Amino acid sequence: MAWNFAAGPARLPDVVLERSAEVLFRRGIDGASSVERPFTGPDFRRAMAETSQRLAGLLDLPPNYQVLFMAGGAMQQFALLPLNLAAAGQRVAYADSGYWSHRAMAEAGASVVALEVARYPGAAPRSAPPLGRWAVPSDCAYCHITPNETVDGIAYPGLPDCAAVPLVADCTSAFLTAPLAIENFGMVYASAQKNIGISGLTVVVICQDLLERSPPELPAVFSYRQQAASGSCVNTPPMAAILIAGMVFDWIADQGGLSAMAAASQVKAACLYATIDGSAGFYQAPVLPGSRSLVNVRFHLADPELTETFITEAEAAGLYHLRGHPRIGGLRASLYNAMPVAGVIALVDFMVDFARRRG
Ligand SMILES: Cc1ncc(COP(=O)(O)O)c(C=O)c1O
Repeated sequence: MAWNFAAGPARLPDVVLERSAEVLFRRGIDGASSVERPFTGPDFRRAMAETSQRLAGLLDLPPNYQVLFMAGGAMQQFALLPLNLAAAGQRVAYADSGYWSHRAMAEAGASVVALEVARYPGAAPRSAPPLGRWAVPSDCAYCHITPNETVDGIAYPGLPDCAAVPLVADCTSAFLTAPLAIENFGMVYASAQKNIGISGLTVVVICQDLLERSPPELPAVFSYRQQAASGSCVNTPPMAAILIAGMVFDWIADQGGLSAMAAASQVKAACLYATIDGSAGFYQAPVLPGSRSLVNVRFHLADPELTETFITEAEAAGLYHLRGHPRIGGLRASLYNAMPVAGVIALVDFMVDFARRRG
């Protein structure tokens, strides 16, 4: 048995992977499969509407929020956010909590004034920024956070208070791993290749007030307002990724919804962190308890010389893609929804054995 701990693109639920060939690529009586028919036709429109409803059901979405299916990845949203939500030259607030929020802020800067309103304490990110009341100037168009920092392995233990400024969140790596109180956010977005399906799709959930801010001169494909008005079909949408997302949403509902995802996530992360913390220092988790991500577990070996041996032996034991992000090195196990407890048990069994042999 081989287990894939990649941070994304990541493992799909087994049943989704098994059914996808049939759902996507089996030709019907019209000689076309689901990805060979016009996206404007009734079949795809129906599938898209159902996918959107399934997501709305999982999130318990209030009627003043809309789901958009957009292409271009989460990084495209970094650029589109200020273009849609802020006026030229307006201030926007960003929390710098690690690698991805830093990049989001860097991409925002051209047309607006990006303010850093919160940051991890210390020189390197080892915990989330202190929460509570943030000094976000009231003229800011929005305040952007990254509640789960995929690279740094940091998760916010709660939400900040940004007063009257709408909160916008890059939820890419922890989306659908726990219930989300969407009414706390003006907008959340997540690219698909971690917990939604395959790359090529980014899900945007946005409240009506923010949707109406998109300036009319914005090119249609980049405009939240025009994407919403066209049912996310301004142009050909990423059809395969949307169809797979629908299957993943069904799978999550079948497992018991977002509360069940959260319970499983707690068990998996607790098992791995307990192994790290219980190794008498052989393994070390750089992120402080209280800010540790449940889905991107970072750790390293006290003796860094052993890292390559660990990776080689792990792969021989069927445990793949454990290398940390190239920027910070070390090791990282991503435990998204589709990773079963059995995969985590295989990993911790290997880690205990490796520590016994090499410690
Ligand atoms: C939190 C976060 N934001 C943004 C991105 C970038 O996503 P994409 O490659 O879809 O643009 C990633 C990718 O790992 C991520 O984890």
